[in-house]
Amino acid sequence: MAKIGLFYGSKRGNTADAAMTIKESFDQVEPDLVEVHNVKRIELSKMNEYEKIILGSSTWEAGQLQMHWKRAFPQMDEIDLHGKQVAVFGFGNQSEFNTTFQGGIAILSQKARERGADLVGLWPIDGYQVADCPAVEDGHFVGLALDNTNQHELTKERIQTWVQQLISEFGLG
Ligand SMILES: Cc1cc2nc3c(=O)[nH]c(=O)nc-3n(C[C@H](O)[C@H](O)[C@H](O)COP(=O)(O)O)c2cc1C
Repeated sequence: MAKIGLFYGSKRGNTADAAMTIKESFDQVEPDLVEVHNVKRIELSKMNEYEKIILGSSTWEAGQLQMHWKRAFPQMDEIDLHGKQVAVFGFGNQSEFNTTFQGGIAILSQKARERGADLVGLWPIDGYQVADCPAVEDGHFVGLALDNTNQHELTKERIQTWVQQLISEFGLG
């Protein structure tokens, strides 16, 4: 089966840990189906090797991408995502940063669409305390929204549910 590429940026390790949990959850379909890349260390042209892509970033600086993503981000304009499926996930803090909650996944999803991707993995806002933030669109987050500051106990279960959703949307199950 063709591999899935997961690209993440993380400052304190939350997004990195979630990337590994996502990878392990996909192992039920096929071992090592997901290949995990830290955007701190690779060129984004690596994305050209995949038809199904997962992008993960925490949010910093009032709704901005995590710093390694921010540095790599201009390379996205060189990537053609037409005909590809892209899903996004991220970490934020909904109580302290209510209006910029998950701004990182808003930026990633917008760019993925701009580059031609079919965005999958939308996630319901039920169970979150959010204002009208950029990551919310028609009553859904544009991707999986995780919050280890306020809802740490829900993270693993949310990831597992989201991966089941992606297995279906990617046509793998
Ligand atoms: C200085 C600072 C600014 C932050 N800004 C935001 C923000 O604008 N929006 C948001 O949702 N979370 C914000 N956060 C929360 C982080 O995204 C959160 O701590 C996240 O879990 C970090 O994930 P990481 O370890 O993968 O980098 C901020 C955190 C700090 C310390």
